[in-house]
Amino acid sequence: MTEPRNDEDRQRAAKDHLWMHFTRHSTHDTHEVPTIVRGDGVHIYDSHGKRYLDGLAGLFVVQAGHGRTELAEAAAKQAAELAFFPLWSYAHPGAIDLAERVAAYAPGDLNRVFFTTGGGEAVESAWKLAKQYFKLTGKPTKHKVISRAIAYHGTPQGALSITGLPGMKAPFEPLVPSTFRVPNTNFYRSAETSYLGPADEYAFGQWAANRIAEAIEFEGPDTVAAVFLEPVQNSGGCFPPPPGYFERVREICDEYDVLLVSDEVICAFGRLGHMFAAERYGYQPDIITCAKGLTSGYSPLGAMIATDRLFEPFSKGDNSFAHGYTFGGHPVSTAVAMANLDIFEREQLNEHVRETEGDFRTTLEKLTDLPIVGDIRGDGYFYGIELVKDQKTKETFDDAECERLLRGFLSGALFEAGLYCRADDRGDPVIQLAPPLIADQAVFDEIETILRDVLTRAWAQL
Ligand SMILES: Cc1ncc(COP(=O)(O)O)c(C=O)c1O
Repeated sequence: MTEPRNDEDRQRAAKDHLWMHFTRHSTHDTHEVPTIVRGDGVHIYDSHGKRYLDGLAGLFVVQAGHGRTELAEAAAKQAAELAFFPLWSYAHPGAIDLAERVAAYAPGDLNRVFFTTGGGEAVESAWKLAKQYFKLTGKPTKHKVISRAIAYHGTPQGALSITGLPGMKAPFEPLVPSTFRVPNTNFYRSAETSYLGPADEYAFGQWAANRIAEAIEFEGPDTVAAVFLEPVQNSGGCFPPPPGYFERVREICDEYDVLLVSDEVICAFGRLGHMFAAERYGYQPDIITCAKGLTSGYSPLGAMIATDRLFEPFSKGDNSFAHGYTFGGHPVSTAVAMANLDIFEREQLNEHVRETEGDFRTTLEKLTDLPIVGDIRGDGYFYGIELVKDQKTKETFDDAECERLLRGFLSGALFEAGLYCRADDRGDPVIQLAPPLIADQAVFDEIETILRDVLTRAWAQL
């Protein structure tokens, strides 16, 4: 039996044995490993009993909030009844029921649900589906992917190849070939890209969308299979689509017979006040990839959702999609997802986000009186706050300043002040916020108060 351990022993074990993800382990030579032991609603608690506001819903995951015993009970009930069975030529009721339910939420004829264990696998599955679909339908040379600068799409080597963050890819090159980047929709810095048009969001959006057509032309339409786009791009700090952007992207995809993949690993399940964010922005994808909020994180699960058209060739003769994951659509996870979606409906979480997102924005916008705050952008319960050296010129920080500001001060100071969120410099430096969807005005105020204090101190240190 495992003995209860004291904090000190566990700290030593963490430092000696645990390999944390995306973590500079040397930081923990001098700092303890923050160890979260419990969650309740919008709050988490560390091993010393200190309470924090979970300003990132774990990692854009815990939509329904922490401590939902009914989700834990759904998991326990399912594990007792049928702990595991694969979806390899067999099914179980949870996977069937969830596939039907997810298909009903998904826009248009996105009716076919392929389960994975997470988002990266969903992205990987979508690219493989796109390639095989075109092989089966007489366009075997269509295989390339277009995606956007600074966008993150996951860590499997295909998904990482689609990712637009050169620094994150470099250690693992050569990656899967055949992916190409186009500009993202960072309107705040549109004057610094090759965009030369008016400071008008619609015009900028058309320009950005047209870069996709240009990339398809450069590569050859006969070679391009898919475009992968997030509804709101996370990495870089929340770039919502300019008005008209997705309408134009859809037109381009139709013109060149290129599949539009909406990577909604973050944006689905209420983050933007809808089950799927494509609905919010009024476009029809050919594939949606999702994960995270589907179970509110009470068990791991992801999905790739495809249209009837894409499934059709796989329904015939001896064709099959030779692809799968042992734990994809795990019975415990599908049971938890069903219970989680029940909470969404019973508590009207999407409606709550739509009703209160304006208050969230207004509260965050109070911070624009701080000289370090350059831009506040996002939608729903999903915001990025870009930090600058000069509000007027939008001058950003150099690498050394980012290092001192984000890693040296902000991340630690925010956590110390009781706010768990993320200070990120994969693009320009931003603070990312995505609280659980049950958050209300009191939570927005607490976020604003802590940010105001910590950002004021950060400015004083510069
Ligand atoms: C847009 C997007 N796609 C894919 C992924 C990868 O998901 P996972 O970490 O579940 O593999 C993420 C993760 O944050 C993401 O934000």
